[in-house]
Amino acid sequence: MIELAKSLDMSLSDVYGMATFYSFLSTKPQGRNVIRICKSIPCFLKNCQTIIETVEGEIGIKPGETTPDGKFSFQLANCIGACDKAPAMMVNYDVHVDLTPEKISQILKEYK
Ligand code: FES
Repeated sequence: MIELAKSLDMSLSDVYGMATFYSFLSTKPQGRNVIRICKSIPCFLKNCQTIIETVEGEIGIKPGETTPDGKFSFQLANCIGACDKAPAMMVNYDVHVDLTPEKISQILKEYK
């Protein structure tokens, strides 16, 4: 961020503010696959908490963490634009909708 601030002639605090505002940017190294489960109201009402707990059980980490092998990072996100098919999540740039606990294991197997 220091180098970026210098090259863009911006303050470090402006670069930091940008890097931490957008959920698709990160200030920490991420896993090869980033899981983002929507936690906004429509997905919440369609029981996204069960999906979150299922993912936690499948990959053994909590939101905000990365698996020790670097395969997955896990994050909670605000609306990803698939509210009509809630609950929804993204893995990298793939959107998965109408999630059920039964679907989670099969979806995660798609990612190496
Ligand atoms: S509220 Fe979850 S995708 Fe929009």
